[in-house]
Amino acid sequence: MPQAANPLAQGLGVRRQPDPCALVVFGASGDLTKRKLLPALYSLAFRGLLPKRFAVVGVARSEQTTRQFVTAMRQAVKQFARDPFRTDVFESLAAGMRYVSTDFADDGGEDSVGQTLDELDEARGTGGNRLHYLAVPPQAFPVVVREIGERREREGWARVIIEKPFGHDLASARELSASVKRWFAEDEIFRIDHYLGKETVQNLMALRFANGIFEPIWNRQMVDHVQITVAESMGIEGRAGYYEQAGVIRDIFQNHLLQLLALTAMEPPIDFSADAVRNEKVKVLRAMHTPGPKSVVRGQYGRGWVEGEEVLAYREEPGVDPRSLTDTYIAAKLYVDNWRWADTPFYVRAGKRLARRETTIAIQFKSAPHPPFESIAGDGLRPNVLLIHVQPDEGVSLAIGAKVPGAGMSIRTVHMDFLYGGAFREGVPEAYERLILDAMLGDATLFTREDEVEEQWKLVDAIVGAWGRDRPTFPDYAAGSWGPARADELLHRDGRSWRRH
Ligand code: BG6
Repeated sequence: MPQAANPLAQGLGVRRQPDPCALVVFGASGDLTKRKLLPALYSLAFRGLLPKRFAVVGVARSEQTTRQFVTAMRQAVKQFARDPFRTDVFESLAAGMRYVSTDFADDGGEDSVGQTLDELDEARGTGGNRLHYLAVPPQAFPVVVREIGERREREGWARVIIEKPFGHDLASARELSASVKRWFAEDEIFRIDHYLGKETVQNLMALRFANGIFEPIWNRQMVDHVQITVAESMGIEGRAGYYEQAGVIRDIFQNHLLQLLALTAMEPPIDFSADAVRNEKVKVLRAMHTPGPKSVVRGQYGRGWVEGEEVLAYREEPGVDPRSLTDTYIAAKLYVDNWRWADTPFYVRAGKRLARRETTIAIQFKSAPHPPFESIAGDGLRPNVLLIHVQPDEGVSLAIGAKVPGAGMSIRTVHMDFLYGGAFREGVPEAYERLILDAMLGDATLFTREDEVEEQWKLVDAIVGAWGRDRPTFPDYAAGSWGPARADELLHRDGRSWRRH
């Protein structure tokens, strides 16, 4: 029997190849380029998914030659790529690599980038198509966008990928949008949230919309509540300058966490075009109301032990104000006020320096209405939970009660598991591979649209506004724990608890 076509289930290997183009990375001497972008390009090249005529231009302030840049990128690929290093693959990529050192505060910086791109059009046949990747701090966005906007080629297409955070609040996000939209149309702007490129996050859509059995139970009648966890064991990794301004609410909650929630709660889109999917996500974000102060818990880590290592408190991290009130943990009870989800709590939490790295979405169903057995030993009757492991151990697992073999009626919770590693031979691609390729193809389905970003900021601004001048007693959780005790109380008050780990 032919299988139903499911565009999300298709591997990267069966996609069409993008047009010839040049990828221009602004902020090329930064961590993102080294750890994520170049390794992702290498993996795409490894699978033959890049256009035959392709070039990469690294742009940054630091002085270095193209040769030095290529050497640093070779090292980065060896260290961070998921595929084994093959000299021929890297060298084919390196042949189209250039580095331009410029400070965009100086007028004329873009001239040297422009010249390099013109030369590459000649030498590599990139046809005037440009994908600009802004991996620079948000303050630098407007000036870089203006420079590239002013020099838009008449030939070929131009797109811009903008790294998060897109603004600091609603007002700054709107300002930023206005400045980008002076030069680029919405379908040329790719606001990146790398969680949307994660295979398991896309599988959430495949799970919901390529399988008939979930739709009838995916609602307030059957679901007791949803728990979304984005836990990291890592600290701030030397990013104090950024993190002190952002905190977990802007670093994770505003984007990754709300995206996971929107994908979990959204209605089926009519198709998987960029607008159809994003229309449904926006409706979810619009239907969320601001949680009251009792429904949000923020925290900050103190010293502790993480994965066997003693670690510093947040306030002791280099570059952090010793009296900092920046949040490194957030938990909240949120509601989506629509017919599908009214009165169904979505408990969400995110934090740094928690016990383990774990991103999960747990759909907890209502308990069986009546226990038909006279006496039950074992775990008793526990609610079914559909657990989506976004990372690590990518997969999906359904907790069901099963009879323990033997006389009597003893019930124990067992798990039906689907593990990526077991089901597919192909390894799970990195989110950036998918996203860079989609941007080259002009497909914005897995990128955030302007109205989505605005709805996300409205919620965040309301929460931050309610914190006002409160001075929380920080630190309030030990590094290596599961967060502040008040986050447990948030659920206990409702007669529930966070999923056990
Ligand atoms: C980034 C945040 O967007 O996501 C980081 O800025 C965080 O603070 C990272 O560590 C987590 O990404 P991942 O893919 O490792 O879950």
